[in-house]
Amino acid sequence: MNSQSSPIGIFDSGFGGLSIFREIRHLMPQYDYIFLGDNGRAPYGDRSFQEVFDFTNQAVMRLFDMGCPLVILACNTASAKALRNIQQNELPSSADPTRRVLGVIRPTVERVSNLTYSGHIGLVATRATVSSQSYDMELAKTAPHIHVTSRACPRWVPLIESGRLDAEELYLDVRSELSALLDTDPDIDTIILGCTHYPLITSLIQKVLQELDHPEIILMPQGKPVSYALRDYLYRHPEMETRLSRQAGVSYYTTGEVPAFENLATIFLGHDSKISALPVIL
Ligand code: DGL
Repeated sequence: MNSQSSPIGIFDSGFGGLSIFREIRHLMPQYDYIFLGDNGRAPYGDRSFQEVFDFTNQAVMRLFDMGCPLVILACNTASAKALRNIQQNELPSSADPTRRVLGVIRPTVERVSNLTYSGHIGLVATRATVSSQSYDMELAKTAPHIHVTSRACPRWVPLIESGRLDAEELYLDVRSELSALLDTDPDIDTIILGCTHYPLITSLIQKVLQELDHPEIILMPQGKPVSYALRDYLYRHPEMETRLSRQAGVSYYTTGEVPAFENLATIFLGHDSKISALPVIL
């Protein structure tokens, strides 16, 4: 990418945002993108409100400095804990207040109300996202008839970040969390994967739901709703859309170990050939 490019910035605490980025790029391959994963400081899910805000804000400011006029927080924890503050307080006082930051929670909630028949949904997410009650509040505004039962699954992200997707430990934990969720509300027919890392273990979650005699439950990952909401946003905001450069370029940055990021990102993105990444310090 050259110095004139204006890419879309995609940020996550680690690898999870790749599950969103994959869908965004699939839908809109024409734009330039920068993906930034804060793998060196992941997971965020058990961090304090202040830490999640500070880390997310640092990443957003870095993506702005790299030329992105628009940044997507492809992370529920960051969307729940930092998005509003950045939108309301940081952006207006920044060097260019016309830049924008969008999150993943609203597009997910808008979509889930069309999927459930029973009106009972489950949410699996990090502790930070569950305790923020962001989903409950967003649902209360847009679909108050929906009953949501939330379950924090704090061990899933560290195991996914370590790349041990077939670890027995992960299987046992997924089984115990889903079984507790369904004991709390057996009428759940749709589960929001409310952490962008979780689509990376979709087949394991499906296998466990089969074992628990709930094969009918629909899993709702966020890649598609977020990418369609972004396309819609760009359609409604031509002043932003025309600022974006279109050379179909992608750059990857990580605060973690570059070779480990390159290996796992390639797997998570489903690429045939290896991607290359650059180190970044926030
Ligand atoms: N992938 C992130 C989310 O959607 C954060 C996971 C973490 O860092 O704990 O919540």
